[in-house]
Amino acid sequence: MRRTVLITGASQGFGKLIAKKFHKEGWNVIATMRTPEKETELTELDNVLVNRLDVTDKDSITKSVAEGVERFGKIDVLVNNAGFGLQGPYMSSSEEMVSKQMNVNVFGVLNVTRAVLPYMEKNKDGVIVNFSSIAGLVGLPHTAVYNATKYAVEGFTEGLQYELNPIGIKLKLVQPGAFNTGFVSSMDRPDVSDNCIYKAGWDATVAQIDSMIGEGQDPQEVADITFLAATDGEETLRYIVGGDAIQIMEARKQMNDVEFKSMLMEAFNL
Ligand SMILES: NC(=O)c1ccc[n+]([C@@H]2O[C@H](COP(=O)([O-])OP(=O)(O)OC[C@H]3O[C@@H](n4cnc5c(N)ncnc54)[C@H](OP(=O)(O)O)[C@@H]3O)[C@@H](O)[C@H]2O)c1
Repeated sequence: MRRTVLITGASQGFGKLIAKKFHKEGWNVIATMRTPEKETELTELDNVLVNRLDVTDKDSITKSVAEGVERFGKIDVLVNNAGFGLQGPYMSSSEEMVSKQMNVNVFGVLNVTRAVLPYMEKNKDGVIVNFSSIAGLVGLPHTAVYNATKYAVEGFTEGLQYELNPIGIKLKLVQPGAFNTGFVSSMDRPDVSDNCIYKAGWDATVAQIDSMIGEGQDPQEVADITFLAATDGEETLRYIVGGDAIQIMEARKQMNDVEFKSMLMEAFNL
């Protein structure tokens, strides 16, 4: 029997590539997105259901998941990919900006997981792949709130293993470095005035992040690793992707907190 994956944020970036990868490997795909009416490519594929799911809208989550199960009978793999970056000095970011970041990147993951789990529990089988980031492993300049969301996803996923593994459900974390997707153009950034006391280094950070992601690595690598994580049958929790992320983590392991901070400040021209 064909297996079924549900992916959030499949309109572009990693999500769309992940949808195409699973489809190519012979899976049924529930490709969810905020504006399915704009999608023209995935809608042309057999065994792909494109439907509306906004991770901040619980009704849309329930409806999308139910439609997917009605069409394909079950959900074997959930990929919680949807997310975006809030970047800027914390004190320049409004409470609304911070709430939106938390709602999408953290509560979005928790709420979609809550909606899908009853179907996996029934089958005593399933894999949940959650999107973290190198920013879920190390704090980065002017990225504190995004860091907080990805650290939250890390903790949630690692902790949940103890509840779900005994009933046959595996948890996975994908941790990409900088990859060339729509991430930079989707980013939320506050206006930072010239007299803001937190402005120091902000322009340098923007330049560094934009060039890292703009010149970033091929996102297909992340789609391929996501498929591997979902299908390797291993208990492995973390899948770090990208030469940059691997290099940063190697440095992190060898340095103490102060050394590592100095190294990053130099890398970011701060
Ligand atoms: N690119 C990188 O370098 C990088 C590195 C590490 C981790 N990540 C993580 O990878 C994931 C995917 O990002 P990406 O790089 O592929 O960026 P992207 O090209 O901007 O794609 C983000 C996707 O998330 C969707 N999304 C945003 N808010 C949503 C909401 N409320 N409900 C449902 N979907 C929503 C977007 O939908 P719309 O089209 O409707 O906006 C889009 O499909 C994110 O979790 C991100 O944090 C990215």
